[in-house]
Amino acid sequence: MAHSFRGEHILHGNQFTRESLKEIMDQAREFESKMGSRELLEMMKGKVLATLFFEPSTRTRLSFEAAMHRLGGAVISVASGATSSAAKGETIADTARTVSQYADVLVIRHPMVGSAQEAAGAASIPVLNGGDGAGQHPTQALMDVYTIEKELGTLENITVAMVGDLKNGRTVHALSALLKLYPVDLVFVAPPALKMPGEITAELKQKGVQVTETERLENALSCDLIYMTRIQKERFSDPADYDKIRGVYVLNEEILKGTKKEPVIMHPLPRVDEIAVDVDSHAGAAYFRQVQNGVYVRMALLAMVTGAV
Ligand code: NCD
Repeated sequence: MAHSFRGEHILHGNQFTRESLKEIMDQAREFESKMGSRELLEMMKGKVLATLFFEPSTRTRLSFEAAMHRLGGAVISVASGATSSAAKGETIADTARTVSQYADVLVIRHPMVGSAQEAAGAASIPVLNGGDGAGQHPTQALMDVYTIEKELGTLENITVAMVGDLKNGRTVHALSALLKLYPVDLVFVAPPALKMPGEITAELKQKGVQVTETERLENALSCDLIYMTRIQKERFSDPADYDKIRGVYVLNEEILKGTKKEPVIMHPLPRVDEIAVDVDSHAGAAYFRQVQNGVYVRMALLAMVTGAV
């Protein structure tokens, strides 16, 4: 039986199976080909997406909004917590209940871990987690899996290095949750203070994923894919701790010269200094293709959870 996403919330990387992932990827591929042939889509005409962003965002908010427009739907938006009643002390639950009266689907980004779950508990429409603090970022992980499959041609028997702030990086938390559905080897490269949370590595190992933890970027260079991440400055309580650690890993042309075969390089963006611009012209530099894929995957999610497909 096919998995129906109609009415479903998208909150956590752990909610997917290989089968349900395939359905999202197939739908995204269909939208990609329709976009390529400039087909006009109107399947979400009359539907409204609300984007509620209580933390900064460029790609996640705009790509969801672009996705909704490309499906023929409309968008209402809170682009900053400062402009909504959250600034007056309204709870996430009350906000979600309210927005449910205006929209058919909502995307929320909020600094608190579990915030999207809380919104989902109160909303009467599907809630998509656009990032809950240092918790999860499942829609990013879905576009990452879509990108990996496109770039490497498979999700089977691949080696993936995740580099940087693995403690606070919600993208890598969600991506490892999805990758554990496949036979993959993961190499986690992080300074001791920013290691992947122990419960995530334990879960991966329990699912049979081979996990290697290291501090050295060199250990990532033989992987099929290097997934770089930004040190999450906003999660540091002491700015001095951030200053000590910033710039710890920088991927540049010089380092890549040492690789036997050119890896695929991804990054959820924004980058600060983790990938030098001299890497951008490399064939394996996939981070802007990753951005483009985000629109197709988010189109698929919007259409699927609202029952438009
Ligand atoms: C990421 C995020 O917000 O978690 N950005 C994104 O959604 N593409 C990564 C980051 O901010 O470092």
